[in-house]
Amino acid sequence: MSLHWDESLVLGIDEIDSQHRSICEHFEKLSEAAQQGTQKELIEELASFLFEYAQVHFATEDRIMLEYKYPKIEAQRSEHGEFTRDAKEFMKRIEKDGATREIAIEVTGKLFRWIYNHIRNHDREMVAYVKECMALRSKYEN
Ligand SMILES: [Fe+2]
Repeated sequence: MSLHWDESLVLGIDEIDSQHRSICEHFEKLSEAAQQGTQKELIEELASFLFEYAQVHFATEDRIMLEYKYPKIEAQRSEHGEFTRDAKEFMKRIEKDGATREIAIEVTGKLFRWIYNHIRNHDREMVAYVKECMALRSKYEN
């Protein structure tokens, strides 16, 4: 399962894009490690980095959505909440059984779907709305 950062993932708000980019880059490393299946510690480290980083990232998106009164904020929060619950579940399993190849493959599958579906659909729509608000705000401020 390979995923490379490309233009289709760039949404146009630097803070969000650079966090998404970091998520993708770490995903690539995790995916490679999971395929090799021999570096349990590296898999554990990358998986916990990604899930912690996702929390930081969701907080960033939440702050921006609140600032611009994004009307679909609850839909975003519910997806972020689902991801967070899954992440906790994975982390518990990794703590209990170590980063088995089976878990590593499940984690990469989950992240892969997340990055493609959530960023390209939900986040794209949210960023388009926020950018419009920003443009209007700067128009009326000047
Ligand atoms: Fe989001």
